[in-house]
Amino acid sequence: MKKTTLLSILSSALLLVFLVIWFGLFNVSAKEKHWKITTAFLEFVRERSIEVRADGIEVPDLSNLDMISNGAKNYAAMCAQCHLSPTMKPTELSLGLYPQPPVFYTQEHFSHGKENTFWTIKNGLKLTGMPAWGDFHTDEQIWELVAFLNEINGMSTTEYLELTGSDEQIDKENSDQHH
Ligand code: HEC
Repeated sequence: MKKTTLLSILSSALLLVFLVIWFGLFNVSAKEKHWKITTAFLEFVRERSIEVRADGIEVPDLSNLDMISNGAKNYAAMCAQCHLSPTMKPTELSLGLYPQPPVFYTQEHFSHGKENTFWTIKNGLKLTGMPAWGDFHTDEQIWELVAFLNEINGMSTTEYLELTGSDEQIDKENSDQHH
């Protein structure tokens, strides 16, 4: 193919992309779901980005009960409003966000490997609503969260309340009064 033909194809493609953006054809509304192919593409980008950056992070021993319990307390304070917990009903925040925050007590993590989870909590995820926690928390506190997340899948309400050490009323039963 001649150089000039290639150039004109390329510039037409760029012009088309520009026009799509200019006429606002791409809807940034959080209520409009991505196409399957866009989701698959974005997930691939996310996985590779985390995998490469988390490479070489050394995972400490996460089985210590104090660690898990400290993680649980911070989780209840900082994460549960989005990622929910065995004591909570879905919140306006958890339902309104897109992409939706994974519900860790019923769902497996999508980033496999504890070093990936650590990196994600420390750095957050651009364009998703997942904040970076690393600036205001020590690595130790972040590992405590990882240690807790390691246990949360399938956790019962009683176990959760024991770990968080809270005497909070169970929201699921009482939330009707708030609405
Ligand atoms: C404001 C809402 C919000 C808060 C608060 C929040 N997250 Fe997230 N988080 C998200 C969203 C949204 C995603 C999903 C991003 C995506 O799909 O790419 C996410 C993704 C993640 C992931 C990656 C998912 C996986 O399966 O590995 C981890 C881990 C995580 N959050 C942990 C936490 C922890 C721990 C806290 C508290 C310290 C927290 N998040 C607080 C919104 C939140």
